Amino acid sequence: MVAQVIAALDGAGSVLDCTLGGGGHSQALLEAGASVVAIDRDADAIAEATARLHSYVESGRFRPVLGDFTRIDEIPTLRNVAFAGVLADLGVSSAQIDRNERGFSFRPGVALDMRMSGEIGDTAADILNTASMEELAAIFHDFGDEPRARKLAREVVRRRSTREFVTADDFVGAIRGTFGASAGAPEFARLFQAVRIAVNDELPGLERALPQLRDMLEPGGCMVIIAYHSGEDRIVKHAMRAWSTACTCPPRQPICNCGGIALGAMIWRKSIQADADEVAHNPRARSARLRAWRKAA
Ligand SMILES: C[S@@+](CC[C@H](N)C(=O)[O-])C[C@H]1O[C@@H](n2cnc3c(N)ncnc32)[C@H](O)[C@@H]1O
Repeated sequence: MVAQVIAALDGAGSVLDCTLGGGGHSQALLEAGASVVAIDRDADAIAEATARLHSYVESGRFRPVLGDFTRIDEIPTLRNVAFAGVLADLGVSSAQIDRNERGFSFRPGVALDMRMSGEIGDTAADILNTASMEELAAIFHDFGDEPRARKLAREVVRRRSTREFVTADDFVGAIRGTFGASAGAPEFARLFQAVRIAVNDELPGLERALPQLRDMLEPGGCMVIIAYHSGEDRIVKHAMRAWSTACTCPPRQPICNCGGIALGAMIWRKSIQADADEVAHNPRARSARLRAWRKAA
């Protein structure tokens, strides 16, 4: 959704790209004339985009930063820095999915890893082998929209009591063991995504980060977020709506007396979706929801 991102961030002289990935959005912003600071928690993404966009690094307009945007306060060089635009294109990159050694895919033999930041934290296998049945059911239900989450959680716990989960085949086996042999790619994609969201603490992290990112915007600056998961999009929608609401009185109070002033306004009332051409070119864009918000000047 490069065109929509560029349209929303039109004229922004400085942009914080929170999710560098393959660098497609950063490159388009650089080509549009912006200076870009781009974060990724994946060292491979930083190295590859730095090499590909080296001419912009050398000219001082592009600064890749290894870090986690949900812990932006832990990146000293970004303290007290303001931007005209903030962009986050959430989730996982094609490079991460395509590389079997990163462990995001449900292809046979792939080790259950899924850590975006490489070596830090619990792997997918750690979570499947150690989380309680209740925790697993919550992961499958809350992050995978799975109505039979408890049944799958029970199956995982039953299977791991005799043999621990190591590869994608072990989790695929548990999904098939729960839902039958007809379970296929759509179920695997949804439930592997649920585990990935848990491994990378994606939803709580996003909720924590949004107000910090909003506060890094200059007056009149614009925030653009692209979400691929309904829970993620809900967090973005609620945050942007709350920031756009002037009145903070309790909902049942008949007369407003808070004197509240909205922090800004949504640029589009509803989320923007990728058009048919883009979906044909990149099927992953089908689930993308872009929302944009402008801070009051
Ligand atoms: C969908 S890709 C971004 C693609 C990018 N916009 C492009 O044009 O190529 C998401 C990227 O964000 C990174 N990422 C996800 N969550 C992150 C976080 N909390 N902090 C930093 N990077 C994160 C992932 O490692 C991945 O490389």
